[in-house]
Amino acid sequence: MKGKEKISMLTTYDFVSATYLNEAKIDIGLIGDSLGNVLLGYENTLPVTMEEMIHHTKAVARAKPNFLIVGDMPNKSCINPKLALENAQKFIQAGAHSVKVEGPVTEVVEKLISNNIPVMGHVGLTPQSIVDWKVQGKDTQSAQKIFDDALALEKAGCFSIVIETVPARLGKKITEKLKIPTIGIGAGIDCDGQVLVINDMLGLNAKEFKPKFLKKYMDLRPQVIEALKQYNQEVKKGIFPSKENSYE
Ligand code: KIV
Repeated sequence: MKGKEKISMLTTYDFVSATYLNEAKIDIGLIGDSLGNVLLGYENTLPVTMEEMIHHTKAVARAKPNFLIVGDMPNKSCINPKLALENAQKFIQAGAHSVKVEGPVTEVVEKLISNNIPVMGHVGLTPQSIVDWKVQGKDTQSAQKIFDDALALEKAGCFSIVIETVPARLGKKITEKLKIPTIGIGAGIDCDGQVLVINDMLGLNAKEFKPKFLKKYMDLRPQVIEALKQYNQEVKKGIFPSKENSYE
């Protein structure tokens, strides 16, 4: 699709959201390790386990979606190529078509590719190793490092690379240099595709989260709470269930 059609990607963590992505014809569904902070109530992505990722990957796969299913390798799941292969195989057995790895882990990528597992890379802000949520690659030296990492991941065999939270000019530079598609999140308009976290863009988060790169397409949390409040009141007042919600 590179150079022909922009690529849409969203996170999805369960059967229901996978059906949403499928109907909306989203190209790629990522079971992101953002599962940890978005759905499981952890502070960040670090505590997310392989077991949790596999549980959610299976739920997404049960929707039998048309999009490419990418399973995100969680923290410590690829500390060496052998362990990475064992874990990546678990994702594939759970129904993922490919996996995503964070950072310049080229040996891991080579090992997975040589075992026929397609790999997506991830450079820029990589939450498993960076706790400082600021724009990466603003100075020449760090921009060069991100550029070199992206190139190295392409050389190692990645089929695509996520670029997270970098200046738009760096997203453009990497996109122009690489032959494989780049998927940006806070990396500007010139990337070959875009990814967002589904709960962020639907306004469904427990805590307010509004980084500059995020566009909220809906603000569902207040609406959901309003509906729940109404239900609560109707139960307490004996309004629900009415006759029409009761059996004869
Ligand atoms: O875990 C995640 O949701 C991600 C995306 C932000 C790319 O890695």
